[in-house]
Amino acid sequence: MKMENDIFHKIFWWSSSDSDSGSGSGTHRKCCRPIEKIVPTTTGVLLIFLFLFVAGMCFSSGWIDSSILSGISYPKQNQETTSKTPTITQEFPLRCTIGNETQTCPRDYSTTNIVRLSNLTCPSYFKWIYEDLKSWRETGITKEMVEKANKTANFRLVILNGKVYVEKYRSSFQTRDKFTLWGILQLVRLYPGRLPDLELMFNCDDNPVGRSPNEGPPALFRYCADQWSKEIVFPDWSFWGWVETNIKPWNQLLDEIVEGNKRIKWKDRVPFAYWRGNPNVGRKDLMACRGSSENEWNTHLYVQDWRKESRGGFRQSNLAQQCTHRYKIYIEGWAWSVSEKYILACDSMTLFVMPRYYDFFTRGMVPLQHYWPITRDNKKCASLKFAVEWGNNHTDLAQKIGDTSSNFIRDELKMDYVYDYMFHVLNEYSKLLRFKPTVPPGAVELCSETMACSANGIMRKFMEDTMVKSPSDSSPCNIPPPYDPSTLEEFIEKKSNLTRQVQMWQHESQNINKTQ
Ligand SMILES: *[C@@H]1O[C@H](CO)[C@@H](O)[C@H](O)[C@H]1NC(C)=O
Ligand SMILES: *[C@@H]1O[C@H](CO)[C@@H](O)[C@H](O)[C@H]1NC(C)=O
Ligand SMILES: *[C@@H]1O[C@H](CO)[C@@H](O)[C@H](O)[C@H]1NC(C)=O
Ligand SMILES: *[C@@H]1O[C@H](CO)[C@@H](O)[C@H](O)[C@H]1NC(C)=O
Ligand SMILES: *[C@@H]1O[C@H](CO)[C@@H](O)[C@H](O)[C@H]1NC(C)=O
Repeated sequence: MKMENDIFHKIFWWSSSDSDSGSGSGTHRKCCRPIEKIVPTTTGVLLIFLFLFVAGMCFSSGWIDSSILSGISYPKQNQETTSKTPTITQEFPLRCTIGNETQTCPRDYSTTNIVRLSNLTCPSYFKWIYEDLKSWRETGITKEMVEKANKTANFRLVILNGKVYVEKYRSSFQTRDKFTLWGILQLVRLYPGRLPDLELMFNCDDNPVGRSPNEGPPALFRYCADQWSKEIVFPDWSFWGWVETNIKPWNQLLDEIVEGNKRIKWKDRVPFAYWRGNPNVGRKDLMACRGSSENEWNTHLYVQDWRKESRGGFRQSNLAQQCTHRYKIYIEGWAWSVSEKYILACDSMTLFVMPRYYDFFTRGMVPLQHYWPITRDNKKCASLKFAVEWGNNHTDLAQKIGDTSSNFIRDELKMDYVYDYMFHVLNEYSKLLRFKPTVPPGAVELCSETMACSANGIMRKFMEDTMVKSPSDSSPCNIPPPYDPSTLEEFIEKKSNLTRQVQMWQHESQNINKTQ
């Protein structure tokens, strides 16, 4: 126990002294406060993938019309969708044409407001933007490199003089592409005239795109990547809502989870590890950890049936009501899972089955600080059992880990920073372009009006709820400088040391048990 306290002291000391890693708002200092809020989390999202496949089979087009989900009622929303309220009030309302007139994009929205320079430093995970773009630092990105990525891209995006154009190549699963484009349009509304001209390819699939070993990485944007594929990671569609699973936009849902966390104090939560999701997307071995008796592996695992959920108004899958356990399991499916942020926001200690894929914010997190690492191998069940037992023996530390992750999600992954991340990754990317972007012949201009005015039901609702109504009165946060190679190496080594530390504790504990 003494040894453990030393290690934790070091971890938290180390994190709070990593001064370049905090946001300007002092987030890291805040992250280490003693517990003051307790939250339950939700896991249900994993089911998504299952639903996708089921949905793909049920609806021949592969798209689920939003109308099948209409009739679901939503609580009244009273928050602004963006907290960057400008001091100079200038609103960009949605201007839908009436009757049978063709919807066009308004021409008078852009603005040359003088904005205040932000005094905030972006969270440290923004540094990975440089790592993701490293492959092209020397060569730059040529038109050919971009075009080559059209083999797998769902769409090509062009931003030219502040206007957005899209050339669609193939439909994505469900509404992923639509809500990704919607998010980019809102970014343009938040920072009008600030985004540089650029041209990029975007792939909306789960799995990284294969490539031959002697090819460089494709200049392709995706929601996740792994150390071999090295695409450029970008926030996924669920930040603006996931209509097919009734998962609300992040702004709104995060508030609900934070509120929900206050309902059950950590110590009063169920002292087991909770997971709810779809095991049929590469997670079947997790189900083996259900065990035959209730506490064989200290887990409570539930299979989510998205079809049933969809018919029943998504009562079981409400993410804001899933922070009921002290421990929550995160496990990826075919690729990263959007469930990650909802799980980490719960104030519960996350048992993080070490992932192969990363999304844009995961790499900023540290074992034993933000989560408890669980090995991906066949000893998963024993590791889960040990983690729960450890947490129940060290409740203060377990609670602190839960707190740190939910503070990280609440403070550093709030929507303001999601937009700022998008801004910076696009901005840094555009600096590498070695050609002048042009509008390809097959592209159409896109704006909030052309997307939202024809939408209805839950899709329209999510779009209206997430629409940025006025430009930000300040510039994006300031991106911290890149990691120098030795600091980065040390950071990565530190993370693997901490993971190994946990394995050693488990090993020691099992040896003691054996000798008893
Ligand atoms: C639009 O609707 C009006 C009245 O319903 C009709 O007279 C007109 O021809 C329509 N225009 C187009 C372009 O369809
Ligand atoms: C940053 O600017 C805001 C608004 O102008 C101000 O309230 C805040 O104190 C400033 N923070 C720092 C660290 O200077
Ligand atoms: C992709 O790019 C190649 C080379 O520029 C071009 O020949 C091909 O037609 C493009 N494919 C699509 C679907 O646009
Ligand atoms: C938890 O505490 C019990 C009782 O002191 C002990 O037998 C067990 O080994 C501990 N387990 C862990 C993982 O710390
Ligand atoms: C990681 O562990 C090794 C071996 O115990 C140690 O030599 C090294 O200094 C550690 N690295 C960091 C960054 O803590």
